Amino acid sequence: MTRSSRIRRAALAAGACTAVAALLGTAPAAQATQAAPDIPVAAVKAHLAQLQSIADANGGNRAHGRPGYRASVDYIKGKLDAAGFTTSLQPFTSGGATGYNLIADWPGGAEDATVLTGSHLDSVDAGPGINDNGSGSAGILEVALAVSREHLKPAKHLRFAWWGDEEDGMVGSSHYVDALGADSSKISAYLNFDMIGSPNPGYFVYDDDAKLEKVFKDWFAAKNIATEPETEGDGRSDHAPFKDAGVPVGGLFSGADYIKTAAQAKAWGGTAGKAFDACYHRSCDTSRNIDDTALHNHTDAIANAVWQLSS
Ligand code: TRP
Ligand code: ZN
Repeated sequence: MTRSSRIRRAALAAGACTAVAALLGTAPAAQATQAAPDIPVAAVKAHLAQLQSIADANGGNRAHGRPGYRASVDYIKGKLDAAGFTTSLQPFTSGGATGYNLIADWPGGAEDATVLTGSHLDSVDAGPGINDNGSGSAGILEVALAVSREHLKPAKHLRFAWWGDEEDGMVGSSHYVDALGADSSKISAYLNFDMIGSPNPGYFVYDDDAKLEKVFKDWFAAKNIATEPETEGDGRSDHAPFKDAGVPVGGLFSGADYIKTAAQAKAWGGTAGKAFDACYHRSCDTSRNIDDTALHNHTDAIANAVWQLSS
């Protein structure tokens, strides 16, 4: 054996992963390049079943100021606490009742470039609000739990939020943005998910910020799923107060009371001439009012965006 090969062998035998990697020029890739995991749709549906049970046990709804809302907050918070998130409730008053935003921080990452992902957790009085907006609430919960399972160490800080009283005019999210004040400049992106499992689904990508829109559009394009820009949303959900404060906003929407056109049914399947969600704001917005494939696609797209934007 030559002297140099003996040295090479000794270096390999030393076995330290970094030494070997350096020798071979194959240092492990930084976590930044890690791909998001597939989000198990069965787990998202299990959260929806729990939200349905909460509504059933509390007069059929999970509306602001009603016991079903607070029970919904407690359910989501329990899952996040068990997964290692730092959670807090931000109370506010609306219509004479106390409402709550639930905020969950994943420890680590640059806080002056926080990626904030949010969904409203309240329903209307009329029903259990499973598509509107149990779907977004359960979807981002399962993405947050995936962050924990994967021990993600993002470069940017990750925060998740479940807003109270969206249905009376984005009350909770507006309260949060007001309380943030000048710190809104530390939010590098706000991603909003309000209705992502519509039973006659569409795939609408918020067009407010070109960079954020592209992250979602590219993911759907890679899956051969057509998308359309979301055009009715400005002022219709919790991204509005963030956009007004100058925060870049993005998000996804699978459709509400608007009618699916023939061209849209051709692209996405489902039924032309019928609403994307015929049970929108009605008592029939139950756990049966969900398209599983749409819910799964949207939830995986959220995970991809969270992974990419925080790296
Ligand atoms: N936020 C609306 C609601 O809860 C739902 C909605 C209707 C929506 N159209 C939208 C959300 C467009 C986002 C974009 O009633
Ligand atoms: Zn609604």
